[in-house]
Amino acid sequence: MQHVRMCVLVGAALLCGILASGIAYGQHGGGLHGPHRFEDPKQWSKAFDAADRDGWQKPNEVLAALKLRPDAIVADIGAGTGYFTVRLAQLVPSGTVYAVDIEEGMLGFIADRAKKTGLENVRTAKGSADSPNLPEKVDLVLIVDTYHHIDARVSYLGKIAASLKPGGRIAIVDFRLDAQRGAPKQMRLSPSLVQDEMRAAGFEQVEAHDFLPDQYFLIFQRKV
Ligand SMILES: C[S@@+](CC[C@H](N)C(=O)[O-])C[C@H]1O[C@@H](n2cnc3c(N)ncnc32)[C@H](O)[C@@H]1O
Repeated sequence: MQHVRMCVLVGAALLCGILASGIAYGQHGGGLHGPHRFEDPKQWSKAFDAADRDGWQKPNEVLAALKLRPDAIVADIGAGTGYFTVRLAQLVPSGTVYAVDIEEGMLGFIADRAKKTGLENVRTAKGSADSPNLPEKVDLVLIVDTYHHIDARVSYLGKIAASLKPGGRIAIVDFRLDAQRGAPKQMRLSPSLVQDEMRAAGFEQVEAHDFLPDQYFLIFQRKV
């Protein structure tokens, strides 16, 4: 009992310390593992939507490289607080953007954000650990800084494949092993591992961009 009380106190102190000091981008290791890793959207928004993120994330360049039609149906898997969701929604005014996350809180935050910004083409979808649970087939799946959080990835990619339209693509942006910011180093995945897993799931790489300073940016399509 004494031990349990001590653990609760130490855990709370650690979490409070992190929250009080502000969360830096990708700071989700340590005691924050587990099913509620991203449960406080307002706190995470300070990092995910930080004013300086555009400088290294280059969202306009990333989105331009995706060459989306204005009526495209897109899924942002691991949407977080909606950094990419809202930008995608502006880019596909006559299309739809599904913001997928496993955290209810993130989905509520995005729904509010879309409403406040007047974006009527954003839908939220509750993903589960083994499936994005997309309600319709999409032209593009974008996964930013989330691929490394997914378990049983080849099987998960199979579920994505079943939700892609013919010619549909998956774009993955995630932290390089040697990046100076981002997910804790022990959680990162090499681009060659991502490529191997994609191949195993029946995808081929169709583009690779190297303009992001900290992340790789790979685009895949189903092999025909
Ligand atoms: C580091 S954040 C990235 C947020 C966003 N993509 C961005 O670039 O700002 C990772 C997000 O992925 C979500 N997530 C983790 N595992 C997931 C899964 N299996 N399916 C869907 N979302 C997941 C987390 O809840 C969190 O909101």
